[in-house]
Amino acid sequence: MTVRRKQPEQLRSHRWYGVNDVRSFGHRSRTAQMGYSRADYAGKPVIAIINTWSDINPCHSHFRQRAEEVKRGIWQAGGFPVEIPAITLSEPFQKPTTMLYRNLLAMETEELLRSYPADGAVLMGGCDKTTPGLLMGAISMNMPAIYMPGGPMLRGNWRDQTLGSGSDVWKYWAELRAGNINEDQWQEIENGIARSPGHCMTMGTASTMTSASEALGFTLPGAASIPAADSRHARMATETGRRIVDMVWEDLKPRDFLTAASFDNAITAVLAIGGSTNALVHLVALARRAGIPLTLNRFDELSRTTPLIANIRPAGKYLMEDFFYAGGLRALLATIGDKLALDARTVNGRTLGENVSGAEVFNREVILPRDRALVASGSLAVLRGNLAPDGAVIKPAAAEPRLLKHSGPALVFADYNDMAARIDDPALDVTADSVLVLKNAGPLGAPGMPEWGQLPIPKKILAQGVRDMLRISDARMSGTSYGACVLHVAPESFAGGPLAFVRDGDVIELDVAERRLELKISDAELARRRAEWKMPPPRFERGYGALYQQHITQADQGCDFDFLEGTAPTPEPEIH
Ligand code: FES
Repeated sequence: MTVRRKQPEQLRSHRWYGVNDVRSFGHRSRTAQMGYSRADYAGKPVIAIINTWSDINPCHSHFRQRAEEVKRGIWQAGGFPVEIPAITLSEPFQKPTTMLYRNLLAMETEELLRSYPADGAVLMGGCDKTTPGLLMGAISMNMPAIYMPGGPMLRGNWRDQTLGSGSDVWKYWAELRAGNINEDQWQEIENGIARSPGHCMTMGTASTMTSASEALGFTLPGAASIPAADSRHARMATETGRRIVDMVWEDLKPRDFLTAASFDNAITAVLAIGGSTNALVHLVALARRAGIPLTLNRFDELSRTTPLIANIRPAGKYLMEDFFYAGGLRALLATIGDKLALDARTVNGRTLGENVSGAEVFNREVILPRDRALVASGSLAVLRGNLAPDGAVIKPAAAEPRLLKHSGPALVFADYNDMAARIDDPALDVTADSVLVLKNAGPLGAPGMPEWGQLPIPKKILAQGVRDMLRISDARMSGTSYGACVLHVAPESFAGGPLAFVRDGDVIELDVAERRLELKISDAELARRRAEWKMPPPRFERGYGALYQQHITQADQGCDFDFLEGTAPTPEPEIH
């Protein structure tokens, strides 16, 4: 039962449509031009559908149809739908990295909602950075908003094999190079690994962040796990459209339900599903938009008590389609209910506890019982030390255990191109104990903090049968990657973080149990190197890149633009 807190004259859109002046004449006559009569919109909430559909985004290829299904729900509930496209962030195609443009989508979302007569918003995303970008903008605008996650694609298929996004690309690429499959077979794999609409169906950033958005309270219950191609996804879209209209009348806004506890829920969910390390950056950014202090330490604290129970690749065996059939995120959250703030509110007006109540696990091989967790605790660790004063992150479970306490000589690559040029050089001075260091791969240095953090193992070391080495960078890593990779080192090297001062042969010490990452040189030597260091010239002279480099924050602060953080009020537009 909707509790009406607003009258039609109090709707934001009333100032565009409902008053009698020459401007509203223009708005109404232009609406009539599109074939609508007054009865279609008068006194109704205007719902902006922010659609990140594009011909260049395969993960959102069903969004034209889904937008129609969202509209159906909005009409049914007595709203007026207005579809507004926003920049698509297409992970496979956008270079150098979609992360460079996440904040652009966030700005666009916020400003579209502010500048047009929207009373509420349905946000349509899914592919990696679209989820945080849309949510960041909606949190800052703080009008009623609901997220429609795009849903994972179906399992990939090749002959009798199940294929997973990302991880099986690397696996079969290696098989091709080793001569174990031929070019024809490789092409069959190319045609079968992504065979339906939807985002990556491994536990990459997309599945991580859509699940996090559900745990935060931003979606209808169960929405994040439904495969994109399933008719239940279409019905969820319609239900999402119906719900946003009531949210407008109830005046239920993001900052009404986002709290420190709901962010704890999102972090706990990410840890329990074995989510991507990218979630640290995005959740910190989202929290800061909501005015909620969230530091990396909180991820480490919750990691120490949260079991990883989703048996999904790359940490486990199955894919998101299997997860849905096993009960999906609702069932997983019900399994760890005692670790959640179940009284946290969500967009459907109920609490998280009410939404997961009664959810059953239908397959205990996919959603594991807690006593058979893939990782009992500590699936993610936040490191500090003189090499990462503001923090760095590692997934200990993804690393060979011998490397979790390790010290070895640094082998330094000045940037990605240097690494690509030298990594397979037979003359490379490297042993299995070396620590591979990649500089200038952070938010400013790369720029955009690409997913370069899983540095390749040098060929000559691979030939020795070694499959993992300690690797350190200020980059991110794909959720589908693995290895002893220390990521997100902050401050980054380009900005004068200590990573900039590492030289070949310096000893680096990692102790995950103690959460330490140290460069074993004296303070005096570190100070001497710092004094000698000069900041590289800016990467951009003009354009969006120039804005980006002036305002981007470091990884531990969420890589937002400094002027977009916080909750300071922004004036509503004057309507003249
Ligand atoms: Fe879109 Fe992976 S490419 S989610």
